[in-house]
Amino acid sequence: MTERRLLLATGNPGKVREIRRALEGLPLEVVGLSDVLPVKPPAERGRTFAENARAKGLYYSRRWPGPVLAEDSGLEVDALGGAPGVRSARFSAPRPSDEKNIRRVLRQLEGVPPAKRRARFVCAMVVVLNGRVIAEFRGEVEGRIASEPRGESGFGYDPIFYYPPLKKTFAELSGGSKNEISHRGRAVRGLRAYFEAKIKALSGDAPDRA
Ligand code: IMP
Repeated sequence: MTERRLLLATGNPGKVREIRRALEGLPLEVVGLSDVLPVKPPAERGRTFAENARAKGLYYSRRWPGPVLAEDSGLEVDALGGAPGVRSARFSAPRPSDEKNIRRVLRQLEGVPPAKRRARFVCAMVVVLNGRVIAEFRGEVEGRIASEPRGESGFGYDPIFYYPPLKKTFAELSGGSKNEISHRGRAVRGLRAYFEAKIKALSGDAPDRA
């Protein structure tokens, strides 16, 4: 891997912020789509987060000479049969917004007691190089849907994602604390370890080369 610029294949500023933070300190320059490759994103047609992440990664890899990091993530609510799932970003289509998505989830859960509001965030992440998926990671975090939005930080469904161990919604956590427990934080730690091992091997001091 000679190209040390890692293309982060997402236009979502919330995700860019979190992934950049989690990869800090690695000798990789993390570049965003809008900086280097302002092309139309591909349609998301996959049935799973992993399928969508792979499709995004392969799409951008055809247009980028170095490694591409793509991810797909979303919220699964048990009482809604796993919805919004891969439709998380566009749950309130035709003109979706975070606020409308949240309202729609809350409306569909009206009257559902706390014990039956189990939900999880899921994140599928892939690294693609030269048109080939070379690594995949997955992270999940369990919680439940709050009765109303709380907190100002984060993005997406964070204000209604209640995390019982901390008795807070994700929007009530600082960026650092969210990264420690979140689906994306978990996936990105796998990714970080992967890059650390690769970089070590490239610099010639991997234990198996000693
Ligand atoms: P994607 O860009 O298709 O992966 O859209 C993922 C959508 O899932 C986002 O737009 C959010 O609505 C939701 N989502 C994913 N990760 C998070 C998170 O960490 N917090 C809140 N919402 C999230």
